[in-house]
Amino acid sequence: MQADVLILPFWEGGGKAFQEKVSFTPLEDLLHSGDFKGKAGDVVFLYGKGGRESRFLVLGLGKKENVSAESLRKAFASALKRIKEKNLKSAHLLFPLLAEEIAGAVLEGILLSNYAFSRLKGDASEERIPRLLETLSISSLPSKIEKALDRYRTIAQSVYFARDLVNDNADHATPEKFAKEAASWLGGKVKTTVLDCVDLEREGMGLLLAVGQGARYKPCMIQASYRGDPEAKEHILLVGKGVTYDTGGLCLKTADNMLTMKCDMAGAAAMLAAVKAVAELGLKVNVTVLAPLAENAIGSKSFKQGDVYRSFSGKTVEILNTDAEGRLILADAIAWGVKHCKPTLVIDAATLTGAIVIALGDEIAGLFSNDEALAQDLADASHSTGEHVWRLPLHDYKASLHSDIADLVNMGGREAGSMKAALFLQEFTEGVPWAHIDMAGTAFLGKPKGYSPTKATGWGVRLLVEFLARRAR
Ligand code: BES
Ligand code: ZN
Ligand code: ZN
Repeated sequence: MQADVLILPFWEGGGKAFQEKVSFTPLEDLLHSGDFKGKAGDVVFLYGKGGRESRFLVLGLGKKENVSAESLRKAFASALKRIKEKNLKSAHLLFPLLAEEIAGAVLEGILLSNYAFSRLKGDASEERIPRLLETLSISSLPSKIEKALDRYRTIAQSVYFARDLVNDNADHATPEKFAKEAASWLGGKVKTTVLDCVDLEREGMGLLLAVGQGARYKPCMIQASYRGDPEAKEHILLVGKGVTYDTGGLCLKTADNMLTMKCDMAGAAAMLAAVKAVAELGLKVNVTVLAPLAENAIGSKSFKQGDVYRSFSGKTVEILNTDAEGRLILADAIAWGVKHCKPTLVIDAATLTGAIVIALGDEIAGLFSNDEALAQDLADASHSTGEHVWRLPLHDYKASLHSDIADLVNMGGREAGSMKAALFLQEFTEGVPWAHIDMAGTAFLGKPKGYSPTKATGWGVRLLVEFLARRAR
């Protein structure tokens, strides 16, 4: 079958990166001209007759000695961007994918870029709607590698799901509907239960209830469990922040700061998407995800600045800022999970603080942990997926969380804001090995970057799956 485009990768300064003989005048002319340097991500389209195909995408991969999984992901993302612009449906790739790591990175670069959120367009047949690549064939791919690539396809489906959930209207992805949609998507291999408002009252989850009390849509919590290794003692608890919309509450955000706040459940989406992939891959690990879900709305029923609310753990919290709501719902979910699930380790992921965006930007998430080995394992997993984390200390700034009338305040001042949020969470972990990932900068982008599309990135799904895969027996 003839593809719409044949992808021809070249190393910077080092010639072609494929074995097949492809030779036709426009390609020879391009290479002789010196205009194409082969820098990573360079793309030139050529037309002519070089075999079956008549349209060619000449792609730069950068210097061969500098090649890495991440450089390949980015180079192929750049190819895919141009393929989508031209509305091409099928591509054939000439590139010897003989090692799983290389093949996986190439496929990830393509799959992660081959995404568009078009559900909210009025007319799906409209010209402007981005079309996606439908078929990709690869020359002489060993069947062992071909099989290994299924793993990347499964994980990409989870990334798409996380992106879809985050990109959806906050007025549609309300706590209850979010939980329902996730439960039906998770399907049979992952057992899900939803604690509704009545359950949350009975359980005494006063912080989650407080954050959700101002909204038309009631808060809830989804629990999703996968037991891939029933004999093992290890049980990993993943907790994801699920604020379906963050207005800031009575401490109302500015218009600019509120604009992106449908992304405030990206932590929950990433954790649920990760457990689905882990179950599909049949990894031998035991994982429970808890996603506390609430809308932080402004209105006459909103929880109040200066009031004190009782957490599930029994600790009381004086609210100094209703916009510091993420740590409240996470505190209840972490404490509930530690008590009921008895995990051997806890990881939470949350779009928690604006301060982490200032500190690390949109390509690196903050990592905090009370456990060296856990922090190292997360950092290692992050190196291999290209989803960067940078560990920050949990310095003893606990005095800033002192309250005169309660056990804690929910905001400790602007300085070291992300760390103080982490210290607040630590109060609810009961000493279990724990890591906190602040992904406020990486979850949602104003414009596409590398293999991340605009808006929801699905950040963290691959990192968590990789971490869990390394833990699996
Ligand atoms: N959801 C926000 C954090 C956020 C900021 C996420 C930017 C994504 C992008 C969080 O609930 C929040 O508002 N945090 C406050 C805390 C402060 C009041 C202590 C913040 O960071 O300003
Ligand atoms: Zn907030
Ligand atoms: Zn928030």
